Amino acid sequence: MQEQVLLHYRDLTVDLKPIDNYIADGGYRTARRVFTEVAPETVVAMVKESNLRGRGGAGFPTGLKWTFLAKNTGKPIYLLCNADESEPGTFKDRAIIENDPHQLLEGMMISAHAIGCVNAYIYIRGEFVYGAEVLKRAIAEAYEKGFLGANVFGSGRELHFHVHRGAGAYICGEETGLIESLEGKRAHPRIKPPFPAVYGVFGCPTIVNNVETLACVRHIVERGPAWFKSIGPESGPGPKLYGVSGHVRNPGVFELPMGTSLREIIEVHAGGMREGRTLKAVIPGGSSVPVLRADEIDIAMDFDSVAKAGSMLGSAGIIVMDDSTDMVAALRRIAHFYHHESCGQCTPCREGTGWLEKILIALDEGRATEDDLGKLDTVAKGMLGTTICVLSDAAAMPVRSFLEKFSEEFRTAAGRRAGAAAA
Ligand SMILES: Cc1cc2nc3c(=O)[nH]c(=O)nc-3n(C[C@H](O)[C@H](O)[C@H](O)COP(=O)(O)O)c2cc1C
Repeated sequence: MQEQVLLHYRDLTVDLKPIDNYIADGGYRTARRVFTEVAPETVVAMVKESNLRGRGGAGFPTGLKWTFLAKNTGKPIYLLCNADESEPGTFKDRAIIENDPHQLLEGMMISAHAIGCVNAYIYIRGEFVYGAEVLKRAIAEAYEKGFLGANVFGSGRELHFHVHRGAGAYICGEETGLIESLEGKRAHPRIKPPFPAVYGVFGCPTIVNNVETLACVRHIVERGPAWFKSIGPESGPGPKLYGVSGHVRNPGVFELPMGTSLREIIEVHAGGMREGRTLKAVIPGGSSVPVLRADEIDIAMDFDSVAKAGSMLGSAGIIVMDDSTDMVAALRRIAHFYHHESCGQCTPCREGTGWLEKILIALDEGRATEDDLGKLDTVAKGMLGTTICVLSDAAAMPVRSFLEKFSEEFRTAAGRRAGAAAA
């Protein structure tokens, strides 16, 4: 049985939410040591050495991002924990938040020490009402113990954590949209550069990291970068949370070594397909990444391997579809989401997501032709790499991959109108 690090709570009978239980289990030992004995640069060096790559979707090296922070600006430095978790098919961060909140807080404390942050925010999606309550309670407990506040662990350092609830919009997960939203504005992503590490929230140097990324930091500093690198591929190692949903017997969040094969995740951990059904397609990293066919699942689920296979690890939200799935209807549903969630700031995204959905509705309802398939692809192509943030790409990529990999099904759908006309 694989050791559960991030989902350690599952191995215990005691509830890790109350701070005393977390402390009794060895919690906050590392944060205390870091604040009282370890220089910030040493923590940054350890995270760099570990090759930790961000778990929010892009897989950017965490230690490297931290070194981009603008130095000596005279402005405060902020740490923002991205707990928006709004990518369809993604539900891994909430497993940490709702069951082991102090693990996240400890990872954030260590990270805040490393980057010189005094005020850190957890931006949590509005729908996570329970998660926000759990976090607020955990933060209050940490203040009572003196682990947060004016004199963290008696080190003389000051650190404050704040929970900020979003109002439930996908774009608030994009880091600069999140920053705008935190500032009280509409979550319109910013043009980069400047990147948040130079000009972030309130115009100050800011690091934005995902929940799972920050939780990993605790363990890297506790057990060492060599331990972290011993799990999975050296270029992006560590324990990894995979969320599996869809037509499997045993959907859920599984902690496995980075690089576990997609076949193993589906067939062993998620229990395989529902009775009497066979696999048709898999979206490996949340609804915004290119789809894979059933014959493409013998791949390692790490950033580089999935990219080599023509898709993306993304948020590792694995959506499994069996042979009963109507791919046109499935894509129509996905397109509806991105149309609804486009912030409207950039024309290719605002207009393109609408056109994608409109054509897919027509296809699904038997009102489209082969010409419309060409239009669908042209619109999607025009949405790639042309906007301020990649929501546009996120909407276009599934469309292009569904069209390419399930072309016959789309042609059949387009043929329905021709067939009806002939009859
Ligand atoms: C449209 C959009 C939505 C996103 N949603 C999330 C999200 O819900 N959670 C998240 O951690 N990152 C999300 N990201 C990625 C963030 O912009 C950012 O890369 C991430 O928070 C950085 O953290 P990491 O380096 O730890 O991965 C999203 C990106 C885009 C373009």
